[in-house]
Amino acid sequence: LADPVAKVTLVGGTRHPSIPLPKDLFAPGHRNSSGLDLSDVATLKAAVAAVKQPVRVGSGTASPIQNAASGGEGLVQAAVARAHGAFPAWSATPVDDRAACLERLADLLEENRDRLMAICVQEAFKTIPDAIGEVREAADFCRYYAGEARARLQPVELPGPTGERNMLHIEGRGVWATIAPWNFPLAIFLGQTVAALVAGNTVVAKPAPQTPEIARFAVELAHRAGVPADALVLVTGGPDIGAALTADVRVMGVAFTGSTATAKRIARTLVENDDRPIVPLIAETGGINAMIVDSTALPEQVVADVLTSSFRSAGQRCSALRLLLVQEDVADTVIHMLQGAMDTLRLGDPADPATDVGPVIDRASYDKLMAYRAQVTDRTVKTLEAPAEGLFVPPTLVRLDRIEDLDQEWFGPILHVATWEAGKIGETIARVNAKGYGLTMGLHSRIARAAEVAEAAAAVGNLYINRSMIGAVVGSQPFGGEGLSGTGPKAGGPHYLYRFCAERAVSIDT
Ligand code: NAD
Ligand code: ALA
Repeated sequence: LADPVAKVTLVGGTRHPSIPLPKDLFAPGHRNSSGLDLSDVATLKAAVAAVKQPVRVGSGTASPIQNAASGGEGLVQAAVARAHGAFPAWSATPVDDRAACLERLADLLEENRDRLMAICVQEAFKTIPDAIGEVREAADFCRYYAGEARARLQPVELPGPTGERNMLHIEGRGVWATIAPWNFPLAIFLGQTVAALVAGNTVVAKPAPQTPEIARFAVELAHRAGVPADALVLVTGGPDIGAALTADVRVMGVAFTGSTATAKRIARTLVENDDRPIVPLIAETGGINAMIVDSTALPEQVVADVLTSSFRSAGQRCSALRLLLVQEDVADTVIHMLQGAMDTLRLGDPADPATDVGPVIDRASYDKLMAYRAQVTDRTVKTLEAPAEGLFVPPTLVRLDRIEDLDQEWFGPILHVATWEAGKIGETIARVNAKGYGLTMGLHSRIARAAEVAEAAAAVGNLYINRSMIGAVVGSQPFGGEGLSGTGPKAGGPHYLYRFCAERAVSIDT
């Protein structure tokens, strides 16, 4: 398992100093879930086996825990009514007490680590390293936002003339809808939900229809941690339920993570009722993420980072590398090495700790990716054998003539490669920027000037230099994109909680 913290330190050995880590996050005695590791394989396998349903290795049939029946629109309205009713009491709860709930939730996540991991494997086909990462990130979000809330959301006294007292209150706005994707069914589902809660809002949370069970357990743990039942209400279901939730005029903010198309639909819903207040939308969406490699880069490091960035999680990360851009002088070497390295990837049962690439999430996703793969066979330079049964999309490398030839996000293990001419790094970045997405970008180079150019020109939320492009660490690599990739707030960053808050200035003539 790649440890993102160790990885950051390694990169610091080059020209780029490692990103400083917040002192308290990894301090001795801090019970960060980063202690999880693969040496505990026996326990982890036992945990996976402990969940009753057999692991579906991409059978394509709905398991009893999938596709939970939605409650219908009436239930959505009832859920919003409950959260609305709970708002006065929860928003008046001192911020320290709300933060303490998140800290208890982090403890409960760690105590229930095995079961949470097992559900991630069963329901979302997460590999074991990815399931570890889910629990780790969810617990990190809880502890990080708890600390941030204590530090940032207290009332502030502002200056004024003698005889005047000016206070700034930073408070919840009301009911938030949090809508999550299936690919981070615990970490993102819970991350955006606890951020809204600790900021003083009540929440109606909707997971993706593919992953209701992990959400159900997470919400149960949140209630056990002290969040009142009506301050956090779960609704399950698909687009209709999400649409009904965002259309409810009592919803005072939406935190959404998912596709760009859905984010735009939600944005339209939020403004279509003229009588509705203007409410904030936090949208974290997809990307056409590129990595630029020049002729000074270390090919072995490039290949290792490309494998991780493109194929880990079966390419089902918003941050994943989609478009590898290699300087033409070294393209043949890098592509040749990459083809060889792809042969080391092991496809199979996600519950097997040795598996690198599991099945994709569902039949619809499988069919879409396989149809695309069939369309590009004449440009495919490498693909792998998939297991005979299951929704396995074989990792595939597709050669493009031009950077512009890739114009949409293919959400799976399909990597595209194109070349660029020496001396044109700025132009190459501009051509990637022109796609309009702005989530992650990578650069591999040993030329300091190349790093400076990328730092100045890359229009992305997260730029990674001489390392992989996935696995942002809470508190160290605040994550989120711009343009077609989102509205910009950085999950796991110091300003995120403010996006969920209203500010009220009170001036008193004393
Ligand atoms: P999706 O947009 O299909 O669904 C996401 C959520 O929105 C689900 O809960 C779904 O039920 C709900 N939804 C669908 N239509 C809705 C509507 N009209 N109104 C309200 N809610 C609605 O996305 P997905 O397939 O679940 O997830 C994959 C996408 O998510 C990819 O594009 C990926 O890049 C993106 N993603 C982005 C980030 C990020 O942080 N930027 C993280 C993970 C995934
Ligand atoms: N935060 C996730 C990553 O960085 C999406 O891979």
